[in-house]
Amino acid sequence: MKLKTLIVYYSEHHGNTKKVARAMAEVLNAKLLKTQDIDLGIISQHDLIGFGSGIYWGRHHKQLFDIIDRLPNQIYKKAFIFSTSGAANKSMSFHEHLKSKLSKKGFEIIGEFSCLGFDTAISESGINKGKPNDKDLNKAKEFALNLLSK
Ligand SMILES: Cc1cc2nc3c(=O)[nH]c(=O)nc-3n(C[C@H](O)[C@H](O)[C@H](O)COP(=O)(O)O)c2cc1C
Repeated sequence: MKLKTLIVYYSEHHGNTKKVARAMAEVLNAKLLKTQDIDLGIISQHDLIGFGSGIYWGRHHKQLFDIIDRLPNQIYKKAFIFSTSGAANKSMSFHEHLKSKLSKKGFEIIGEFSCLGFDTAISESGINKGKPNDKDLNKAKEFALNLLSK
């Protein structure tokens, strides 16, 4: 059965997460919406929802949390989480707050993805120049395709 997929993202620093969100949406044939453009009713029209943003002060952006707060409790709704960050996030520790929030709302988390993103928050010249790059975006696509078997 084909999952109807929606990806909700927030990407303000350098558009890093937007690149990842687009890559995933392309292979999943998903609807792609910024947090700012979300009408809550659209969540119930989809089977699988991806939530992603850059990491700001150790967690996903507040706009994602605000959307989830306003949702009713979910039943049989699958979700995945993604992010880009300045620091490597191998243990997905930056995802914990959002993951817990989604789980409490009743979402079943079926996958998580993160990669580095260009970051000028600390130094003017920045770190992770060119990231996410093609290799990262291919990994994001591969991750997204794997979701379909879960
Ligand atoms: C205000 C601010 C706070 C940030 N805090 C963190 C952080 O706590 N940990 C981290 O690894 N990266 C942090 N970053 C870097 C961003 O997560 C990274 O650049 C990300 O790719 C931005 O995504 P975006 O371009 O989609 O907004 C921060 C960036 C900004 C602007």
